[in-house]
Amino acid sequence: MKETLKNIEKEALNHLSKTSDLKELDQIRIKFLGKKGELTKVLRGMGKLPKEERPIVGQLANEVRGKIEEELEKIKGELKNKEKLIKLEKEKIDISMPGKEKLLGHRHPLLKVKEDLENVFMNMGFDIVEGPEIETVHNNFDALNSPENHPSRDLSDTFYITDNILLRTHTSPVQVRVMKQRKPPLRIVSAGRTFRFDDVDDTHSPMFHQLEGLVIDKNITMANLKHTIDMFIKEIFGSDMETRFRPHYFPFTEPSAEVDVSCFECKGKGCDSCHGTGWSMELLGCGMVHPKVLENCGIDPNEYSGFAFGLGIDRIAMVKYGINNIRLLFDNDMRFLNQF
Ligand code: DAH
Repeated sequence: MKETLKNIEKEALNHLSKTSDLKELDQIRIKFLGKKGELTKVLRGMGKLPKEERPIVGQLANEVRGKIEEELEKIKGELKNKEKLIKLEKEKIDISMPGKEKLLGHRHPLLKVKEDLENVFMNMGFDIVEGPEIETVHNNFDALNSPENHPSRDLSDTFYITDNILLRTHTSPVQVRVMKQRKPPLRIVSAGRTFRFDDVDDTHSPMFHQLEGLVIDKNITMANLKHTIDMFIKEIFGSDMETRFRPHYFPFTEPSAEVDVSCFECKGKGCDSCHGTGWSMELLGCGMVHPKVLENCGIDPNEYSGFAFGLGIDRIAMVKYGINNIRLLFDNDMRFLNQF
């Protein structure tokens, strides 16, 4: 029996000296010291020994177990250390390497202009409202007093979905919706996409953006309109900008006007970009809301009056940032967009 124990010790130490990983080490532990291991087997057979020999064999078995355990722990420590070194080597980072730049998104120039415009009007006490891009012919044309035979109603100018439904050609139908839904006094602006059957060129796109404004109250006059527009232009473009109102025609306003603003290049002196006039032309359409429009929307024109205006957001963005081609606003070319 002593022989067997000595052999177990020898065999176990021999195995241990050859292991190179922790899993294998555990298998060796089970093989020799486990519940069904070699050493346990020997101990179980001790009952058959003569009484006097039992303590001697028992002591020897304990010594063998002690030695194997000691060796196991030693090798386990070594292997763990080795594994740690390998891991450290693998995960080494070079702290002198330059960091990776995180790219931060930013607003599209059109969105920026839209939000700038909305903020200016919000500060003047206007509400921001939204209207649908798919509209009724009634809201887009009829309620706005647009004559039956007006050229803008043509199939060649308007995207019709059915006889009565279209893609709105301007943001003015939002006026109709607001006047029908709310009671005066009203002070709203509404920005969004608009659609016209235009060929694409440097200044035209079949999809573009407008901002609509509407004020309805008692005793509103053209002076209120002029002051509001003048203030807003100075807020957006700078206090040295002048505005000029030219008579115009819109079916939904009477009188109507188009607004020009001092040329952004020469500030009014006259240069190539304004063809020597000193003015950036047709930046905005406006007028006093036509009594028929008020009536169409259930507001008594004898009690209330108001003004309205509409401007092209794309056009404002183009003059503000000196962009000469509307396509740039919709191409999403990062080389262009990164400049804003
Ligand atoms: N809807 C007009 C357009 O698309 C712009 C406009 C002009 C809007 C005068 C108005 C207005 O509210 O009063 O050209």
